[in-house]
Amino acid sequence: MNQQTADILQRLRASDGFLSGGELCREFGMTRSAVWKHISQLRGRGYTIEAVTGRGYRLGKSPDVPVAAEVSPLLSTSRFGRSLVFEETTDSTNRQAKMLARQGAAEGCVVVADRQTGGRGRMRREWVSPGGTNLYVSVILRPAVSPVRLPQIPLLAAAAIHQALAGFGGGFDTHIKWPNDIVAGGRKLCGVLCEMESEPDMAHFVIVGIGLNVNFRHIPDSLRDVATSMAICSGREYSRSAVLAAILNRFEPLYDEWLRCGDLGPLLPYLEEHAWLTGREVTVDRYSGSLTGRVTGLGGDGELLLRDADGRLHRVTSGEATIRK
Ligand code: BTN
Repeated sequence: MNQQTADILQRLRASDGFLSGGELCREFGMTRSAVWKHISQLRGRGYTIEAVTGRGYRLGKSPDVPVAAEVSPLLSTSRFGRSLVFEETTDSTNRQAKMLARQGAAEGCVVVADRQTGGRGRMRREWVSPGGTNLYVSVILRPAVSPVRLPQIPLLAAAAIHQALAGFGGGFDTHIKWPNDIVAGGRKLCGVLCEMESEPDMAHFVIVGIGLNVNFRHIPDSLRDVATSMAICSGREYSRSAVLAAILNRFEPLYDEWLRCGDLGPLLPYLEEHAWLTGREVTVDRYSGSLTGRVTGLGGDGELLLRDADGRLHRVTSGEATIRK
């Protein structure tokens, strides 16, 4: 949607009741037929707009599509989401965000898609990404920190998502499954895929890719035992724009605090409190091999503390954990 259409939408949203065509013409310095074209554009995008002779236009229902015009009025951030690229369909928002980052896109720029045809998960898995129902989001970060701290970014994202979801209520409990999944009742609600381009001593950028099952009801059979959605957990539907804005509103301050503090310190108690794995027997698959043991908690840098059968304590900095039955 172009900026003028978005501005007219905001004006309609802000108005209590009907807004006359003449008023819109005056405010935006355009002709009646130009106003009409923008109204038609909005209708074409799924907005219900009443037009009554002598009274003007009134905004009714808005479509649940997380475009900039819907998300930005809900943001309290200064950078995150202030530039938002929306695609109806893309192969992967992470791939697209990487391309934009290489072209110089600023920190906080966000790519959102309604649907992905090649959504990617961790460990080269596919991320099922049907249209009209979930959030597929990639945030560009440019953290000027030592690369050894970068594995902490997924934890920041997970904490932000967890806090955002808690704010929606809905009567279901969520936990953070180290390092960056959000689970509800043990089933996956959200996954995060962080990818980066870096030199040995400096990251050029990090892409934080978030896949969150929002209103997903028809989970494929192959995932039914392991995946869930906000709608399945609560029995109600959520606005994807509101959920996305809530995540970005949490993520930016957590990220800024992390940059300022130089470590995860202030966030550790939160991550510990909502950890799903602590006390459980797990196997962690890493690119360097797997490790099995009982999770005793998190280390100061967010690493998973795992005690193996011989009593040895391992500090695991990355990997994919599976709970042993
Ligand atoms: C996981 O395996 O748990 C991570 C899943 C991450 C999926 C998201 S959806 C938006 C972004 N684009 C992708 O291709 N992947 C991430």
